[in-house]
Amino acid sequence: MGILDKHQVLEKNATLLLVGSLLVVTIGGIVEIAPLFYLQNTIEKVDGVRPYTPLELKGRDIYIREGCYTCHSQMIRPMRDEVERYGHYSLAAESMYDHPFQWGSKRTGPDLARVGGRYSDAWHVDHLTNPQAVVPESIMPKYGFLKDRLVDATYIEDRVRTDSLVGVPYTSDMIAASKADFAAQADPNADTTELQARYGAAAFKGGKDVNVANFDNAPGVSEMDALIAYLQVLGTMVDFSTFQPDKSR
Ligand code: HEC
Repeated sequence: MGILDKHQVLEKNATLLLVGSLLVVTIGGIVEIAPLFYLQNTIEKVDGVRPYTPLELKGRDIYIREGCYTCHSQMIRPMRDEVERYGHYSLAAESMYDHPFQWGSKRTGPDLARVGGRYSDAWHVDHLTNPQAVVPESIMPKYGFLKDRLVDATYIEDRVRTDSLVGVPYTSDMIAASKADFAAQADPNADTTELQARYGAAAFKGGKDVNVANFDNAPGVSEMDALIAYLQVLGTMVDFSTFQPDKSR
């Protein structure tokens, strides 16, 4: 009997096949899962990654509310075509403060994991207001109404506290100052010393200063301001000119 003939015994006996399959799946499972128990942490710590500012966090909520994720992923896979188009592949640490994360495979539009800093704030206003004016063949919906909706910052402190409850390392100082930081980031004339001290270059190893601007160039803090503040920070926290993957694991 050849090896294939012997296999017939398994294939012709349902119970034996079931037991055999379970055995194989169990071994495979143990080999894949057991090593994970010996890792301290599956997310490598990377310099520069910081929690979102209150304004960026609000923008992120609007991004989710508007369903931007139904057309845009935020995960650059480590494949040549993606890296050449979008930049360095996404690191787990870059979405460690995302609740929920915005990965995905549905890309009606381009991946947005590194869209931060790629366009000016004014470009984003024009594009969100009327995508077809910028990219004629675009099928992206218009979001101009965001500019007319001012953000009510009453609950911004609770919002930041909620993320701290699920593990984002906001300090009590950051939580208490949520409202002030929220307003300061959207006002180029504001004193942003404290905002930068909490979230800027000096606050985190390898960190960068927070983008401060009147993002939509209109009075008041609108949903457009918050959304653009969020888009402009995406993928910009880590400095990839100095980043070295941890090869010790
Ligand atoms: C129906 C699908 C769809 C939805 C929903 C959608 N987009 Fe898009 N988006 C696209 C397409 C297609 C493009 C490429 C053409 C263009 O630039 O308009 C695009 C492009 C973009 C770009 C430019 C990316 C680049 O690298 O050039 C940004 C930024 C963007 N979208 C943000 C958003 C935001 C923010 C939302 C939610 C408020 C959103 N999109 C909702 C389809 C969508």
